[in-house]
Amino acid sequence: MARSLIGGLIVRGWEATQIVVADPAASQLELLKNQYGVRIAKDNAEAARAADILVLAVKPQEMRTVTRQLSSALQVKSPLIISVAAGIRASDIQRWAPGIPVVRCMPNRPALQGCGMTGLYATSDVDADSRRAAEQILGAVGATIWLDQESHMDAVTALSGSGPAYFFLLIEMMEQAGVQLGLSPEISRKLATETAYGSGLMAREAAESAATLRQQVTSKGGTTEAALKHLESHDVRTLFTDALAAAAERSAQLAAEFGSD
Ligand SMILES: NC(=O)c1ccc[n+]([C@@H]2O[C@H](COP(=O)([O-])OP(=O)(O)OC[C@H]3O[C@@H](n4cnc5c(N)ncnc54)[C@H](OP(=O)(O)O)[C@@H]3O)[C@@H](O)[C@H]2O)c1
Repeated sequence: MARSLIGGLIVRGWEATQIVVADPAASQLELLKNQYGVRIAKDNAEAARAADILVLAVKPQEMRTVTRQLSSALQVKSPLIISVAAGIRASDIQRWAPGIPVVRCMPNRPALQGCGMTGLYATSDVDADSRRAAEQILGAVGATIWLDQESHMDAVTALSGSGPAYFFLLIEMMEQAGVQLGLSPEISRKLATETAYGSGLMAREAAESAATLRQQVTSKGGTTEAALKHLESHDVRTLFTDALAAAAERSAQLAAEFGSD
């Protein structure tokens, strides 16, 4: 995720030398320095002491340790913390690093291709300039949307955070179905992935709702209607509603687990 953000920022004209990177693995740092020309810090504290904005992109289970270790370095400039860690609450980060403003983000995997979707939530002490900066940074890897309640992060995690997996499953199942119908795996894969891509683009650009777009491509008595009737008769909508509810519930559980002291 950090690599994607660095790449995205540089493509958008940020100076590589404005970006300072810390990572326990020297090989990672060398790689990032050689690839992007970013500066490297000897450790997290050195990066935190000099930063105006500190992006924390470590695994959720590392967040408590990493943030706590930085609490004194963070007092030097009180930078904005941007956390991309899934399931870590802003209130927990502020407990580990008191007095530091936090923007919590939930990006998703397509950020690696520059077309991610990120939900952002700011604590009440984040000012307008910092909100703009957070939006610019996450905007370097795709679209962004602000949430006014942190509790909505579980739903965002269930929908866009885990969402790419649902689409991959759909592509996988359509590929398999194509093979069952006699197509080669290569042809089936191309048909499924390009259809997903085109449909995504259409849904993104259209003024109409997804329901209207669906109706527009479903003619009465036709092939699409036959398939959709079959799906509806197996209660596909309830299945999806329940699946996302399970993801949101798991997100809340993880937040409680990683956030507890
Ligand atoms: N990937 C996604 O699609 C995605 C989507 C949404 C949210 N996120 C969030 O983004 C965060 C990063 O995920 P990722 O997939 O990029 O994971 P990752 O590839 O494992 O990256 C984590 C990075 O943090 C480094 N790190 C570990 N401990 C550290 C420490 N003590 N101090 C400084 N750096 C440390 C790791 O270094 P080493 O490699 O040396 O261990 C690694 O470079 C996670 O919190 C995840 O929840 C990711």
